[in-house]
Amino acid sequence: MTDSTEQFINQLLGQMTLEEKIGQLNQPEGGDRIDPEALRQGKAGSVIKSAGALNGQSRTVSEGVEQANRLQQCALEARLKIPLIFGRDVIHGCRTIFPIPLAQAAAFNLELTQKAASIAAKEASAGGIKWTFAPMLDIARDPRWGRVAEGNGEDPYLGAQMAASLVRGYQGDDMAQRDKLVACAKHYVGYGSAEGGRDYENGEISEPTLRDVYLPPFESAVRSGVGTVMSAFLDLNGTPATANRRLLTDVLRGEWGFDGYVISDWASIAELINHGVAEDRADAASIALHAGVDMDMCTDIYLETLAANLQAGKVSIQEIDEAVCRILRIKHRAGLFEHPYTDPSRYAREVLTSESRQLARQFARQCMVLLKNKDNVLPLKGIRKILVAGTFAHASAELYGTWSLDGRPEDAVPLEGAFKELKPKDVELYFADDHDQALDYALETDLIILLLGEHPRRSGENANLSDLSLPPGQAELVDLMVTLGKPVVMVIFAGRPLVITRQLQQVDAVLYAWHPGIEGGAALAEILFGIHAPSARLPITFPRATGQVPIYYNHKNSGRPITSEGWFSSRYVDIPSSPLFSFGSGLSYTSFEYADLQLSSQVLRDPISISAEVTNTGNQTGNELVQLYVRDLVGSLTRPVRELKGFQRIELQPGEKQRVRFTLTEEMLAFTRADGSRGIEPGGYHVWIAHDSASGLCAGFRI
Ligand code: BGC
Repeated sequence: MTDSTEQFINQLLGQMTLEEKIGQLNQPEGGDRIDPEALRQGKAGSVIKSAGALNGQSRTVSEGVEQANRLQQCALEARLKIPLIFGRDVIHGCRTIFPIPLAQAAAFNLELTQKAASIAAKEASAGGIKWTFAPMLDIARDPRWGRVAEGNGEDPYLGAQMAASLVRGYQGDDMAQRDKLVACAKHYVGYGSAEGGRDYENGEISEPTLRDVYLPPFESAVRSGVGTVMSAFLDLNGTPATANRRLLTDVLRGEWGFDGYVISDWASIAELINHGVAEDRADAASIALHAGVDMDMCTDIYLETLAANLQAGKVSIQEIDEAVCRILRIKHRAGLFEHPYTDPSRYAREVLTSESRQLARQFARQCMVLLKNKDNVLPLKGIRKILVAGTFAHASAELYGTWSLDGRPEDAVPLEGAFKELKPKDVELYFADDHDQALDYALETDLIILLLGEHPRRSGENANLSDLSLPPGQAELVDLMVTLGKPVVMVIFAGRPLVITRQLQQVDAVLYAWHPGIEGGAALAEILFGIHAPSARLPITFPRATGQVPIYYNHKNSGRPITSEGWFSSRYVDIPSSPLFSFGSGLSYTSFEYADLQLSSQVLRDPISISAEVTNTGNQTGNELVQLYVRDLVGSLTRPVRELKGFQRIELQPGEKQRVRFTLTEEMLAFTRADGSRGIEPGGYHVWIAHDSASGLCAGFRI
């Protein structure tokens, strides 16, 4: 917080009428629906430019620069000339659509994550946007929930690392730079715990779990300087997130020192009435403001009620002033008072450059997870005739995934074209339109590639599923194709872990491609034809059956552990208890061996160095994600069976070995106890250097 910013906002606050102050707390929905006169009267602090979550639905970013500048001009004609901040959901790219956030997490590549976010910031800001409602930092342990696609998976450590990279990418060192955005950490907090995987539902999270699992990504975003936070829709432990003063004020501001502003999620203030904690709109507004929600998204509720609430003594002028100051602070920090307009010539120059496309392709490649590769059927070598069939055989913009407002269908690399361009010369490809044609072609070909999975509309906000199986008809296609006795490679495009237990047994190779974005088709061809090797890992556990969820690797042991034998242990009678694929798992085109785990000390007083030797034992160059896990064996509260504490990527030539080192500190082992205090506890620990969360070399140490 600089003195000059504080001086500036205090001076401005001193000149503002109550109406002007309340106006700053209001965010109407944007575009042509906005009344220019209301802006001239200072009745909005921000405008949301939003039109739904799928590609091609809205072109306001490119075509809206003039409109944004026009609206800005109206706001600057108001008495105090306070600029608007234009907000929009720029979730995984703007015009250049990158892989969905869950897929980005699978790359375990923080540098690439940051770069992609900075390209999104450049493109969106060129379109007149200064504020993105991203990153979504909700830990998700239930893939039935459609929004699992928008976050970074189930792990708090990975989530916190991703949060920092995304905030840095969007905001840079200085959010006032013209090509940077203000980021928004959402949805604060616990939104991913919605019961039954149904969006908007209630969640129950204990305080230690909230602190140690759900809050870390948000704390990391705040420590990285995130400018804004969005309060979630859900009712958490009986208090709707938008009404939760303890979390929005005591924790966020008091403990972490957040000095930006909080915006409600869409209508979540008014929804306090449905939750049953507010009697009417006036009541809802005063509860939310008191809790620490500074700006209302889309319902005019503050505009309508706060003046009367003040008169009735339901809110204080200090509360209103504080909210105004937080908003002005971020606008000032974002350089809006100096540069309220966007140069319309930037858009054509700065979006969808060859550099951004290249990065999108690199990212798409690095997010695809190889889950099975029997007899090294991949990469495809020495095969002449290949059938490509399945729902996604002719995909292009379907590969964008959810929340791709500004991704234009015509920009996507059509998968068929990319395959034809990148295949080896002597390979013949046959693309089938339906099951019958697939069968017809299959009889003539040497290998079958099935491109299956879920359409982006089946993923994202409120696209929840009660059954995680492949969409109708797809399992039947697999059944049909495997009867022919030819090698079958199955590629899945999806916004979540789907249940592919049966297909895993049937096919020779499985590649999980998520929704990989604008260059996804080309990236897939590069992996299948061996131009590049896969290196991604699962950022979320894959269940064997929908009935297994929630399922996650960092669970508690229980008194009758899942790993123990016998009828009376934690188990199902119809399926194994283990997941289909564990967090962190994924193959490459080579193999790695881990050996010689060494600890610099058996007792942690100073930081311990932990290392292991990793060897590429295959005959291809490979990129391995080496993971560090710990387990606190005895605690005053029960502790997870494993927790990720670090990861490193290494690249090794065939036969090459490298010692990989991690450092473990006391702080990394601290956890939240029953009384709310945080710290480490003496006793025994296990540590693993591992390929994934279910394997690895293990040693013990003590504190
Ligand atoms: C979503 C938010 C989003 C907002 C604005 C809401 O429905 O929950 O994530 O930022 O809409 O589009």
